Amino acid sequence: MRLLFIGDVVGSPGRNMVKEYLGKLKDKYRPQFVIINGENAAAGRGITEKIYKELLEYGANMITLGNHSWDNRDIFEFIGDAKYLVRPGNFPEGTPGAGLKFLKMNQYELAVISVQGRTFMPPLDDPFLVADKLVEEAAKRTPFIFVDVHAEATSEKQALGWYLDGRVSAVIGTHTHVQTADNRILPNGTAYMSDVGMTGPYDGILGMEREAVIKKFLTSMPVRFEVPKEGRTVLSGVIIDLDPKTGKAIKTERILINEDHPFFY
Ligand SMILES: [Fe+2]
Ligand SMILES: [Fe+2]
Repeated sequence: MRLLFIGDVVGSPGRNMVKEYLGKLKDKYRPQFVIINGENAAAGRGITEKIYKELLEYGANMITLGNHSWDNRDIFEFIGDAKYLVRPGNFPEGTPGAGLKFLKMNQYELAVISVQGRTFMPPLDDPFLVADKLVEEAAKRTPFIFVDVHAEATSEKQALGWYLDGRVSAVIGTHTHVQTADNRILPNGTAYMSDVGMTGPYDGILGMEREAVIKKFLTSMPVRFEVPKEGRTVLSGVIIDLDPKTGKAIKTERILINEDHPFFY
């Protein structure tokens, strides 16, 4: 059983990379499920219904979100009905959407969970305790459980990975937009990677126009970040192979496509 997870899609350059390469990646790797983090898919800020459907059309089976979940007001219009959209499960009680969704494909059922970290991020409910609850719920139905840990601090992500080792198939980080080279399988069978990386502009800063970000650092003045419309692009992801009986991870492989790492079959 094979999963493909693609990290934070940023604006139209990110969506174009998914459009261009997801079909090719599916041909090459034949994953049963494709999960995409889409928290920055709408011009870097949130997601719209149109873009949610666009990503599904390109071949995504589930879309995860993060701290940018509410950045585009369109989300409130459709999140209630969006079957393939997961927002961090430790948002406060009463928040629209859900932090756990199930997806059936042939003989497999996959549970997708999202939780958001609290270190250097807005205060939320405890992601560890919420993960406990969601994993318990998911495990009643399936051994295939994927967790997107949307967090800033690598230590918090590693802690969650080790905390859930043996109870879920994978704990993969998002949010920092920089792919880490630490993909591994923890001793009890959970695939772990601190950050899968981003998909979108390659020469910006975390996918945004670098001039504005540099100005922000130089002046500390409020600056509006925009997604560059032109320039080189990147796609970041990870392939995770799971034992078809136990749901435990057996292999991971980083995916990085850009000018320095061209795609080949
Ligand atoms: Fe992001
Ligand atoms: Fe984020």
